[in-house]
Amino acid sequence: KRVAILISGGGSNMVSLVDSMGEDHPAMPVLVLANGAEAGGLEKARARGVETAVVDHRPHKGDRASFEEALHARICEAQPDILCLAGFMRVLTEGFVRRWDGRMINIHPSLLPKYTGLNTHARALAAGDTEAGCSVHEVTAELDAGPLLGQARVPVEPGDTPATLAARVLAQEHILYPQVLRRFAAGDKTPVFLP
Ligand code: GRF
Repeated sequence: KRVAILISGGGSNMVSLVDSMGEDHPAMPVLVLANGAEAGGLEKARARGVETAVVDHRPHKGDRASFEEALHARICEAQPDILCLAGFMRVLTEGFVRRWDGRMINIHPSLLPKYTGLNTHARALAAGDTEAGCSVHEVTAELDAGPLLGQARVPVEPGDTPATLAARVLAQEHILYPQVLRRFAAGDKTPVFLP
């Protein structure tokens, strides 16, 4: 299976995914695409020999449809079978999602269905949660709400800040996402639960 990975920032999840796709893996990375040339993950992808692209959302000035047309066209050039959103910070409309229905997955830094959207760690701390984590799900038109493909739980520690909790969760993202992708690429949608 051919995998395209969409990023917006440092791409640490992308790195974990790319590094997980070795010889005996059902998938291979064919594109890393960012919605801005400043994304630090682009250099990491190039260093790993993965083709990169930028489709900047800013010239489209809030015209989601025209941004998504450009995005879709560029992605299709790589002819991927699977799209992985990995720290991709643009909301995709139903129009785009429908074109990739059943072939697009995302990692979100909370134990879905709790805390869809942003600032998940601060919200978990504010709620006094004793555990947190991350989820991988199929992307549907509803934000952060598609069928669950995996979850990893971490304890909330006394004195945690959003940053310390984010770091603990991110380390689990790097373990969870590759495991989910391996199954998904093999056509297995059995969810992964860690630990
Ligand atoms: C992190 O907050 C991660 O939890 C979420 O996207 C952000 C950036 O991740 N998935 P990455 O380092 O760009 O993969």
